[in-house]
Amino acid sequence: MAVNSQVRRSFGLRILKSGHKEIRRLKNAGHEPEIHGNKFWNSSYLTMDYLKTHPIRKRARVMEIGCGWGLLGIYCAKMFDARVTGVDADKHVLPYMELHAKINGVKVNMEQNSFEKLSTARLSEFDVIVGSDICFWDYMTVPLYNLIRRALRAGVKQVIISDPCRPPFTELATRCMDRLANADTIERAVMRPVHASGELLIVKNR
Ligand SMILES: C[S@@+](CC[C@H](N)C(=O)[O-])C[C@H]1O[C@@H](n2cnc3c(N)ncnc32)[C@H](O)[C@@H]1O
Repeated sequence: MAVNSQVRRSFGLRILKSGHKEIRRLKNAGHEPEIHGNKFWNSSYLTMDYLKTHPIRKRARVMEIGCGWGLLGIYCAKMFDARVTGVDADKHVLPYMELHAKINGVKVNMEQNSFEKLSTARLSEFDVIVGSDICFWDYMTVPLYNLIRRALRAGVKQVIISDPCRPPFTELATRCMDRLANADTIERAVMRPVHASGELLIVKNR
């Protein structure tokens, strides 16, 4: 059988590369992501690797914030039968998540919304919040810290954010560890399908 070099298979998922004809079709249809959601970023692999040994409970309600193509949420849907909602400020990324959900045989919900506008009431509908490569500009540290605090107040059990340790993320992690009861970071690295390393910020509800 011919192997399509534009499809990466890892962590039990099919992930399309930028040159895949379905990705190009979406771009040609005008879905041009505007806030770096133009590809799948690597830090999601760090969280996937962590979840292999620290699984979330079956059918948990999971929100992926700054989802981009949404592969981390799709991983949770596929591996843990999670009920997943991908949230992103940029509406143009959502068709890419929809496409990846389809080729991976799972159903997910999608929502255009921002870190700043996700209310406590909305967050209370979820057990776990994940996000990867979402804290890359200085101004993002405070809205994400505030989102984490709202999530804890809303009863979310766990927040996991992975990053290659860009300074705004390190600032976020430090702020969480200084001010919140159950916040920690762990280092993580994977060798396949790419070399990726960084940290997971894990905040748990008491
Ligand atoms: C570097 S991409 C990472 C995408 C995806 N998490 C991944 O790992 O492939 C950052 C994503 O965060 C989204 N984003 C940026 N600012 C946001 C905000 N204030 N609220 C929600 N999403 C935001 C962008 O649209 C983009 O999809």
